[in-house]
Amino acid sequence: MYCYRKIQDDLYWVGANDRRLALFEGVYAVPKGVSYNAYLLMDEKTVLFDTVDAAVSERLFENLEAILDGRKLDYVLVQHMEPDHSATLQQVIEHYPEVQVVCNAAIKKMIEQFFTCSIDDRWVETKDGGTFCSGRHTFAFVKAPMVHWPEVQVTFDTTTGTLFSADAFGVFGAINGAIFADEVDFDHDYMDEARRYYCNIVGKYGVQVQNLLKKAATLDIKMVCPLHGFVWRENIGHFIDKYLHWSSYTPEEKGVVIAYGSIYGGTENAAEILSVMLREKGIKTEMFDVSMTPASEIVAAAFRYSHLVFASATYNNGIFVKMEDLLNDLVAHALQNRTVALMENGTWAPTAAGHMAKKLAECKNINLLDNVVTIRSSVKPEQREAIAAMADAIAATM
Ligand code: FEO
Repeated sequence: MYCYRKIQDDLYWVGANDRRLALFEGVYAVPKGVSYNAYLLMDEKTVLFDTVDAAVSERLFENLEAILDGRKLDYVLVQHMEPDHSATLQQVIEHYPEVQVVCNAAIKKMIEQFFTCSIDDRWVETKDGGTFCSGRHTFAFVKAPMVHWPEVQVTFDTTTGTLFSADAFGVFGAINGAIFADEVDFDHDYMDEARRYYCNIVGKYGVQVQNLLKKAATLDIKMVCPLHGFVWRENIGHFIDKYLHWSSYTPEEKGVVIAYGSIYGGTENAAEILSVMLREKGIKTEMFDVSMTPASEIVAAAFRYSHLVFASATYNNGIFVKMEDLLNDLVAHALQNRTVALMENGTWAPTAAGHMAKKLAECKNINLLDNVVTIRSSVKPEQREAIAAMADAIAATM
């Protein structure tokens, strides 16, 4: 049965939620589910903005049939070819044989890669800065390469001030009947997942996101319709400000992420002692056991806070395996502009700190503190002193 939401007089959300997906992109746990947003415009011509993941295709077609109510679908406008939005495109073309496909040349090429159908006879080509009119609405296209794939374009409805933003301004989490961000307590219930979504999906492409934000700043945006999560019609500036921080790798707040990889508890003990000492100085800390917390959550915390401490057991004469995974992830997501301190543990040959420093040298603008703490098996009084010195050094750079 159809299950859509009206957004404007002639614009409808026709997407669906998936609460059974275990791993988004095969990598990221989504315990609160995810929404796949598609939008249908009932103008003089009917226009579908993107489609949905194959897992929820049935709901898309029910929604389309209910709203179209016998009208034909004139256009499907494709902004992004990742299959969480495009998997049902060929089905849409087969279901509405007269539909024309509005997209740029890079998207057309990917359509031909993903599907068996040709769109040569139904392609309406879009160009960066070009426009398209559906009757009362005129749309302008803006290329947004690498936000999050190279073919991405976003679409601005010049009639209503609505930005169809593709993956930008999306969030993990099913939207549970709400459609507008102001219908929920977004900061309390969704901001952490918005950060985790941003950092892990497009965190590497800060420059490209900044470019899109600069273009968006020239538009009179009244509403943002992303492909995941909520539609924004109020306080959009608050969310854009978060994007400005994340995309420029600027910490949102002062605080210390302490990520530790501990085999028998000695490294964890050192990390706990440091956290206590920092808290006693009034400094906010968040602790993560890298063996237990998915890297995507720690990556998001690293984007949030100003300081990072990595405490690792030595393993195979190198970095503890889960810590190495985390550091690789941080490098891959281009984290930069942070103050970092290192702890290492080794019963016979502690070497983890040197390896971690080498890995972190791949990140830009990392202020690596000199105060390395080295533990041999367990924390002894002299190491408490070293941890205290590390806490002082962190406090001095806050
Ligand atoms: Fe939500 Fe890049 O796809």
